[in-house]
Amino acid sequence: MAVGIFDSGLGGLTVLDAVQERLPDVPFVYYADSANAPYGVRTADDIYKLTTAATQALFDAGCDLVILACNTASAAALRRMQEGWVPQDKRVLGVFVPLIEALTERSWGDNSPPREVGVKHVALFATPATVSSRAFQRELAFRAIGVDVEGQACGGVVDAIEEGDMILAEAMVRSHVDALKRKMPQPDAAVLGCTHYPLMQEQFQDALGADVKVFSQANLVAESLADYLTRRPEMAGEGTSKFLTSGDPKQVSSRATQFLRRQITFEAA
Ligand code: DGL
Repeated sequence: MAVGIFDSGLGGLTVLDAVQERLPDVPFVYYADSANAPYGVRTADDIYKLTTAATQALFDAGCDLVILACNTASAAALRRMQEGWVPQDKRVLGVFVPLIEALTERSWGDNSPPREVGVKHVALFATPATVSSRAFQRELAFRAIGVDVEGQACGGVVDAIEEGDMILAEAMVRSHVDALKRKMPQPDAAVLGCTHYPLMQEQFQDALGADVKVFSQANLVAESLADYLTRRPEMAGEGTSKFLTSGDPKQVSSRATQFLRRQITFEAA
């Protein structure tokens, strides 16, 4: 069938856009759990329950492979799902590992011991749940040594984006970057660890300054998915792309169309 792309709301569209461009012949089913967004202020248990329910909806829509295009779900639920919930004939992948491989200068699946890398001071901007899970630091420690990570929980940014209030979102980005800089005055790299944040990438870059390298996930995930499908072509499937939401399809379609600058039509999940 198709490849499933899941996010709590609209953020995963930044990933969808990149994977569609990289893999134009692969059909995708996008699921936005808009009725329950944002996830970033929820408990890990809650995030696990919501993420498994949405992933099941994508399995039921015929997807054998589901990408959690949501760092919060990847950080708080993916490991638990892979350990005991995902059926044998299905796959669920997250968005953390491609980003960390890029940051630590590794190619796909390079499991050699951790080593020193170019970046030393990394700012992580993510939701409160992602920052408190410490999943980013854990995955990084498998691959790199001597990297100092300062997490900045960016409360409120996702809500503002989901509401379509980009002026508020920008003000919040600036205040979160200021807060980060008080803790880490000179980061050499910054990770946008939430799939909503590429929609504010220019504002992050501007507030951080031109000498900070900003890593964002969409293209890295697209490359990594293309690579995965070369090894597992049967997972790419066939069918037509569609957009599902647990929220109000009309409202979600109008915001999605505004963000991607092309017509996107959601249907009720
Ligand atoms: N876009 C998601 C992420 O990457 C989720 C944000 C949220 O629902 O709080 O973390």
